[in-house]
Amino acid sequence: MNKKIKDIVEALTLEEKAGLCSGQDFWHLKSIKRLGLQAIMITDGPHGLRKQLGSADHVGLQNSVPSTCFPTASATACSWDRDLMREMGKAIAEECIQEGVSVILGPGANIKRSPLCGRNFEYISEDPFHTGVIASALINGIQSMGIGTSLKHYAMNNQETRRMTIDAVVDERTQREIYLAGFEKAVTDSQPWTVMCSYNRVDGTYLSDHKRLLKEILKEEWGHTGLVVTDWGACNDRVEGIRAGLELEMPASFGINDKRIIDAVEKGNLSVELLDKAAERIIELILKSMVNLRPEYKYSIPDHHRLARRIAGESMVLLKNDGVLPFSKTEKIAVIGEFAVMPRYQGAGSSLINPTKLDTLCKILDDQKLLYEYARGYDISSDIPNQSMIDDAKKLAAGTDKVLVLAGLTENYESEGFDRKHLIMPESHNELIRQIISVNENVTVVLMNGAPVEMPWIGGVKGVLEAYLGGQAGSGAIIDILYGEINPSGKLAETFPVKLEDTPSYRYFPGYTRTVEYREGIYIGYRYYDKFEKNVLFPFGYGLSYTKFSYTDMKVLKTGQYEYAVSLKLSNMGETAGAEVVQLYVESPETGIYKAKKELKGFEKVYLEPGETKTVTMNLNKRSFAFYNINIPGWHVEKGDYRILVGASSRDIRMDACIALEASSETEVPDYSK
Ligand code: BGC
Repeated sequence: MNKKIKDIVEALTLEEKAGLCSGQDFWHLKSIKRLGLQAIMITDGPHGLRKQLGSADHVGLQNSVPSTCFPTASATACSWDRDLMREMGKAIAEECIQEGVSVILGPGANIKRSPLCGRNFEYISEDPFHTGVIASALINGIQSMGIGTSLKHYAMNNQETRRMTIDAVVDERTQREIYLAGFEKAVTDSQPWTVMCSYNRVDGTYLSDHKRLLKEILKEEWGHTGLVVTDWGACNDRVEGIRAGLELEMPASFGINDKRIIDAVEKGNLSVELLDKAAERIIELILKSMVNLRPEYKYSIPDHHRLARRIAGESMVLLKNDGVLPFSKTEKIAVIGEFAVMPRYQGAGSSLINPTKLDTLCKILDDQKLLYEYARGYDISSDIPNQSMIDDAKKLAAGTDKVLVLAGLTENYESEGFDRKHLIMPESHNELIRQIISVNENVTVVLMNGAPVEMPWIGGVKGVLEAYLGGQAGSGAIIDILYGEINPSGKLAETFPVKLEDTPSYRYFPGYTRTVEYREGIYIGYRYYDKFEKNVLFPFGYGLSYTKFSYTDMKVLKTGQYEYAVSLKLSNMGETAGAEVVQLYVESPETGIYKAKKELKGFEKVYLEPGETKTVTMNLNKRSFAFYNINIPGWHVEKGDYRILVGASSRDIRMDACIALEASSETEVPDYSK
């Protein structure tokens, strides 16, 4: 340990040590002036900075200082772009530096177990590998600027219903392979300064007291060197928490828990060494933060706005294009839907940002002098179709060649704090689309929503762009894509099911009064839809481009034990420059162990000029082939032939190869047939 930290810990009184283990107020740690420790600030996150002005709340009710509202995680996840995530992280960190914030709370690495989870807009993916890579890139970007992150909400916090008390009952293999793996990758690849433990319980124990998850897995096994902070108000038993590996309680406990810690030490129920360990990690965070405080720093608001637009443009996913896109700048478009003037661009709750600026579609069209006419189509404050607004929109649509309808989910449909009950869009939006397609056959729908919706009208429209919650500059990015300034390159980081009843956790989400049982086990997202051969609306990894890519020359080179370099040539066959997300999946041999049909183990986003060819290389390691054997307990590669699949989506595999592997362990595999 660093000598300075050691000296400070030695100089602390018992009261000071206990005091450091909780916040001073809502957003600050305690200061200890005589030892030069300042009250550093930690605040939300994660799609931009939410620094509150007045007295605090953590549900996004109070106003906050203006900051750039970047697209939410469900959008940026679809960029599959590590560099872009790092860039976004750096920009967010710059805003933190200006505002004197030392740690920003995020990213959220919870797996999208069900599309119904109200907070899915804040989460990355249904796949843990993808989650881990994207979360790490963002963390690395933020932390490269000397600002900390808080990887959240650790762990098994996959619903908002009863999120403060629900007990997630998840078998160990599923925990390891699905719900912990993304956190693990983010921790081992990027060492977030803090990890936030969630409110819920796992197997009966609150996360803030969970020795196995905090001390044994996060700290000892994964080697997390930062500290664990509670979600706001998630501390259950403060003394048990210190034993379990929880360092910091937020927000303040106003002395109540400090006293409990002091009593426990004085009565011999808690060793002072354990308390010292907690204090060491907290002091380390404070010292690291203090050296990075730069009160004179200023970021460029216009630059960040432009960056937010670029990120949104690289993230949106073109789901359907029957030759209707891109629009030409000389044609007149009928623009329908109130989202064109009042966009839905961010989620609600603790991540709510007060944007520095807000673009709207109509404003951007005006600025760019593009030809259009607008009709409201629906009232965003009502789900009930308004026939007179629909009639006006129909009249406009009937007299125009191409129609653009803005639709999706309004704010009351998805938020932190509650889950959705269904995947249906407001009837005012669905009915509008139905009636518009009855008068015009060139309809493109742009969706603004944080999570998948059912699309009963899909057969009647020619284009669909999933814009997700695109942040303050999202409307500009939509125009960039629709008019071909940007070639869409986003690919879905979650499956869009045909209907809710098809989703794997449908019968067990959100569980009972006290517990939620993850009975679908490892079969989440594409792992389920592929294994059980379900039709989906749009598969994981899917997204269209204005150009075409060809995949050739796949090679698999052994580079070490269980290590392979997979390479291929990717060519842009079209007339337009563009980027492709090349995906690498592994299909395991059939054995007695139930497994997904295939699992994502690598990806690369590659930009190509028209006619250009690049060699793409992705690496596989032992973990890419292993399942979690609870008998070891540990990662186990079974003997057999593994297929290496390369493709443009989980359902568009372009090339494959086969390799034979020996078993990595002699340990018996569990008998799941009983
Ligand atoms: C949320 C966290 C958030 C914290 C502070 C909690 O209610 O779950 O995601 O970081 O509040 O606002």
